[in-house]
Amino acid sequence: MKYTFPNNFWWGAATSGPQSEGRFNKVNKNIFDYWFDNEPEKFHNGIGPNVASNFYHSYKEDIAMMKSIGLNSFRTSIQWTRLIKDFETCEVYEDGVNFYNSVINECIKNDIIPVINLNHFDLPIELYEKYNGWESKHVTDLFAKFAKKAFELFSDRVKYWATFNEPIVVLEGQYLYKHHYPQIVDGKKAVQAAYNLNLASAKAIREFRNMGCNKEGGKISIILNLTPSYPRSNSNEDLRAASIRDMFFNRIFLDPAVYGKFPEELVELLKNDGVIWESTEEEDRIINENTVDFLGVNYYQPSRAKAREEAFDESNGWMPDKYFEFYDMPGKKINTHRGWEIYPKAIYDISKNIKENYNNIPWYISENGMGVEGEEGFKNSEGIIEDNYRIEFIMDHLVWLHKGIEEGSNCFGYHLWTPIDCWSWNNSYKNRYGFISLNLDDQSKIIKKSGYWFKIVSDNNGF
Ligand code: GAL
Repeated sequence: MKYTFPNNFWWGAATSGPQSEGRFNKVNKNIFDYWFDNEPEKFHNGIGPNVASNFYHSYKEDIAMMKSIGLNSFRTSIQWTRLIKDFETCEVYEDGVNFYNSVINECIKNDIIPVINLNHFDLPIELYEKYNGWESKHVTDLFAKFAKKAFELFSDRVKYWATFNEPIVVLEGQYLYKHHYPQIVDGKKAVQAAYNLNLASAKAIREFRNMGCNKEGGKISIILNLTPSYPRSNSNEDLRAASIRDMFFNRIFLDPAVYGKFPEELVELLKNDGVIWESTEEEDRIINENTVDFLGVNYYQPSRAKAREEAFDESNGWMPDKYFEFYDMPGKKINTHRGWEIYPKAIYDISKNIKENYNNIPWYISENGMGVEGEEGFKNSEGIIEDNYRIEFIMDHLVWLHKGIEEGSNCFGYHLWTPIDCWSWNNSYKNRYGFISLNLDDQSKIIKKSGYWFKIVSDNNGF
C-alpha cells in the first residue's frame, strides 16, 4: 500500500523558544527560568533551560540540518521574555529582535516555512508576581500588545502564526496537578485562567485582523493538544464521565477557538458548582468575534475515562476530577519511558471530529512524537541512533491520518516533536524526541535513522 499525501503537505517538526534556545542574552525571566534558579532540584538531573540545545548560537547549522532531513516547515516560539524589555510599554530588546529576524530569514533562505507561536508555557515571572499571571485580565491585554509587536516586526515574512501552545497544560501544570510553577491546586483559579487564556488568544487575533495581516496572506491559529476521551464502557455513567472530561480538557479551548463560544453544558456545570469565571459581555464578544483561521493539533495520547468509583477528595476544593476517574485500560500499548498510551487510531478520530463537528476547518498535526530514554543504547557502529521504534510510531500515526484525509478531513501537514532533541521542562533531557540527537556534553548533533527516513518520506510526499 502506498500512502500519498495532499500536494504541498507540510513535512516538518516543532520546538519552542524556551526549550531550544538557551537563556543567552535574556534579561527577563519566565516562570521556568525563575523556578530553575530557585529550585534546580525539581528538574531531572538538575538541568534547566540555561543552555538547552544552544539554538541561540547554532540556529544556522540547526536549520541547515533540518533542511537536510527534508523539513519544509518548522515551528518555534518567540519568547516574550526575550523580545520584550518592558511588558507594559512593549519596549523591545534589540538583541531579541535581531535573533528572531535571523531565525526567520534563515528558514526562508532554506525554503522552510516558519510557523511562529507566541506563548509556549513561558509566562514572564514578573507578570505572575505582579498580577497572578493568567488569573488577571490585565495580563491578557499585555499579551495582545506583545502579539501586536511581534506581528509588526515579523508578519511581512511569517504567514503562519499561533497564539498559544497547549493552553490546557497551563491549567493542568500551574493550577491543578502541580507540574509547572507555582504548583497551585485550585480548580476555581484554573477555570478563570481558562477563560482568560481564551480571551488573550482572541485579543491577539483581533490585533492580527486589525493590522490587516490576513489581507497580506497571513493566517492565525491556536495549538491544542487534543486528547479524545474514550469511555470505559457504554454505560450512561461512563459516557457522561468521558463527555465531561472532553468538555473540560478539549472543548474548553476548541469550541471558543473555532466557534467563539464555550460549550453550554460546561458553562452550566461550572455555574451550578459555583466556580464559573468572571467575565463581561464585552469580553464574551471579543471571544465570539475573533476565532482562528486554522488549528494546530498536538496528539500524543488519548484519554480514557470512567465514572468515579472512589469518592472525590474534597480537600482541595473543586476540581474537574470530581466527575471522572482515569481509566487504566488493560492491554493498552504503552511508551514505558513517558508512561503514555500509544493509540494511533485517535488521530483518525480527531480528523473525523474536526471534519464533522468543527466545520472541517484547515488543521495540521503540530506535534506528535515519542520520548525515549537512553537512546545512546541504540547507536550503531557509525554512531547513528537506530530509532526504529520512532519510525514505526510515526508511520502508524501517518497511516491513520491518511485515512482521515482520504475521508475528507482538511489536514495539511504533520510536524514531529521535535527536530533536534530539546529540553522538556521538569523532565529536562530525560526523554529524547528528535530526528536529530544532541550530545549534552559538547552540544554536537547527529541525524538519527528516523531523520534519514523522514527525508525520503518528505521527498516522496508519502511512503
Ligand atoms: C508537549 C509540549 C512540548 C513538549 C512535548 C513533549 O505537551 O507542547 O513542549 O514538551 O509535550 O514532552
